Amino acid sequence: MACVSSIDGWEPRRDAGSSLVASLSEVSAVVQRGRSTDDVLRIAGEGVAALGMRLLVLQCTDDAFVLRALFTAPARLAAVERTLGRSLKGLRAPASECASLRELVAARRTTYCDHIDVFDRFVRAATGQELAALESASTTASIANGVLAPLFVHDRPWGLLSLVSPRLTPDDAAAARLFTSQIGSALEAAETIEALETKNRELSSVNQELSFANAELVKRERLAAVGELAAIVAHEVRNPLCVIFNAITSLRRALDDDAPRGTRAELLEILGDEAHRLNHIVAQMLDLAKPSALRMQPTRLQDLLAGVVSAAAASPDAGAVRFRVEASPDEPAVDMDPRFMHQAMLNLVLNAMHASPRGADVVLSGAVTAVHGRPVVRLQVVDTGPGIPFEDRARIFEPLFTTKSSGTGLGLSLVKRVVEAHAGEVTCSTDASGSVFVVTFPATVAGDTLRERESGVVAT
Ligand SMILES: Nc1ncnc2c1ncn2[C@@H]1O[C@H](COP(=O)(O)OP(=O)(O)OP(=O)(O)O)[C@@H](O)[C@H]1O
Ligand SMILES: [Mg+2]
Repeated sequence: MACVSSIDGWEPRRDAGSSLVASLSEVSAVVQRGRSTDDVLRIAGEGVAALGMRLLVLQCTDDAFVLRALFTAPARLAAVERTLGRSLKGLRAPASECASLRELVAARRTTYCDHIDVFDRFVRAATGQELAALESASTTASIANGVLAPLFVHDRPWGLLSLVSPRLTPDDAAAARLFTSQIGSALEAAETIEALETKNRELSSVNQELSFANAELVKRERLAAVGELAAIVAHEVRNPLCVIFNAITSLRRALDDDAPRGTRAELLEILGDEAHRLNHIVAQMLDLAKPSALRMQPTRLQDLLAGVVSAAAASPDAGAVRFRVEASPDEPAVDMDPRFMHQAMLNLVLNAMHASPRGADVVLSGAVTAVHGRPVVRLQVVDTGPGIPFEDRARIFEPLFTTKSSGTGLGLSLVKRVVEAHAGEVTCSTDASGSVFVVTFPATVAGDTLRERESGVVAT
């Protein structure tokens, strides 16, 4: 965008006392603040005009010379535009018509001229029209003497700058050369800023596209997960349903045949067991699907673990092991979703119970401890079972992986989802003498206790 402006109060205003070098240096100091090439040229033009001089800047591109800045007297600007019958903004001359202007840039020399005709040459190349007729009237004629300087940006030819004023003398060429090179530095910085801003815009649009793509991916993953879940449910539900249908057929037959009470009771028991199993599968599936919506509330670790032990003790295959809870009543209440955490810990305890020999101990412990100075909840279930075979270890958290005839293989994947929803992790160490499952997640505890624990005063 060209910066074309007429200057009101068109009289030289440079203090007689201050040198041109000092005045132009002041202008170029302000010019350095420009954040775009247009800014730089506008500030330079206004500064030069305030010193009572005119400014012309032409930029040379690969295929043209383009008018980038023109600060001149109002009468002259109006007369030029009237003569050309068009605005000067955006005026460009094809490279093929600008050989003499190119030579001026290529010469890399700042020169004082009694008769600067660069603007006239540019207009002729751009429009084919002559401005000669304007030279007759004193208000519209160009001022002829001034300095012409090539502009370089990143040490590459960028264009031409001319400073025009009746007061300029050959001695002012050096000041003009310095001014031009400072404008070149300001353009260099502005071009870098512009390039960065363009990159920034491109990056933010790429970012936006990425976040759209991400949202799409999440949606698809969710749909895939729903599909996977449906397949799991179908697969898991089919077995107990088969057993139920078989039992119903046998029960009908037993009723028709007037079979003994014992047989009917056995069949009813099978029905009850399988209905119980179906219920367990549905409960696990529901829990597996939900932990994203956590309802956090302060919960005492001792209460949590005691609740888990009661639930485990009430399960049909309990009674073979002894449960021990190790959690200090002094432990502070910690934020968690107690219902999901109960489910997760219950799954670990049921697994420990299933793996344990008769009469063995299953030990549950819980504490708030400090890891890297941050409070962390650590819950642990230890059993003295046979451990997990080496080849199964990598698979135990996979949904549907089970080595039990009546297992769904969903327990540990539920544990993992619940713990991860609490921003934590579950780990397992196991060998032939037993298994230890450890759940850790960040602890949010109230006030003083938190500060004490962050500073490392932690009772585990
Ligand atoms: N404490 C443990 N000791 C030995 N093996 C274990 C232990 N915990 C888990 N496993 C192994 O990991 C497998 C997967 O456990 P997971 O809880 O996911 O499913 P499951 O117990 O088989 O069935 P359910 O869905 O009813 O819990 C188990 O079948 C078992 O082989
Ligand atoms: Mg299990």
